[in-house]
Amino acid sequence: MEERPVIALDYSNWEEAKLFLQSFHDERLFVKVGMELFYQSGPTIVETIKAQGHHIFLDLKLHDIPNTIYQALKGLAALQIDMVNVHAAGGMNMMKAALEGLEAGTPAGMQRPLLIAVTQLTSTTEEQMQKEQLISKTLQTSVVHYARLTYEAGLDGVVCSALEAAHICRETNEHFLRVTPGIRLPGEAVHDQKRVVTPEDARKLGATGIVVGRSITESASPLTAYLKIKEAWEEK
Ligand code: C5P
Repeated sequence: MEERPVIALDYSNWEEAKLFLQSFHDERLFVKVGMELFYQSGPTIVETIKAQGHHIFLDLKLHDIPNTIYQALKGLAALQIDMVNVHAAGGMNMMKAALEGLEAGTPAGMQRPLLIAVTQLTSTTEEQMQKEQLISKTLQTSVVHYARLTYEAGLDGVVCSALEAAHICRETNEHFLRVTPGIRLPGEAVHDQKRVVTPEDARKLGATGIVVGRSITESASPLTAYLKIKEAWEEK
């Protein structure tokens, strides 16, 4: 995965997202399109954003039976997105089917989109996981277990907290992607995120990529905020 911070395009319609993207002029971005925008605007939004020269992480967190996932991912690969995700809870066979679907759908001569998995949602508490999913382990154990399963299924990485990145790296390998949200510059509003880290700390803690939303989307100057975060992230 290339190094640019991924910007979360958390807008409900293309008009708003378009206005936001216009403030970046010629800067080529890596943007995250989630369910909100994709389900409102449809697959054409991917073509529109790609036509502007940006890379796309399609954050649809897919989870279904292997055959359905295979077909869904095959179709998404044809859109030439750069990265997409599924839920690790769908299981090993589902994750393998996702990968096979992506491979089957990638046009000849093009690179297969990266495939990463969500482990436990950050909105899930340990108590809830134990009571509702009947997993009698710690949240951390479950997250690392799902990361290992994802690795064994042959996927490229996981979405995780920067605070879990080093542990996941030890359990998999250094090339296994650790894409981390919950990023803020020092002194910024935390919003609903419980545990945030700075871009520098994310790297130091073992993240291989960062996803940033409101620090950029709510900034008076998104381009300035983006460049500041990019510089902090790329600082070795
Ligand atoms: O605005 P903020 O930087 O908090 O946004 C982070 C982005 O990453 C949002 O799109 C959010 O949905 C997403 N995300 C997250 N935590 C996860 C997975 C995705 O914050 N575990």
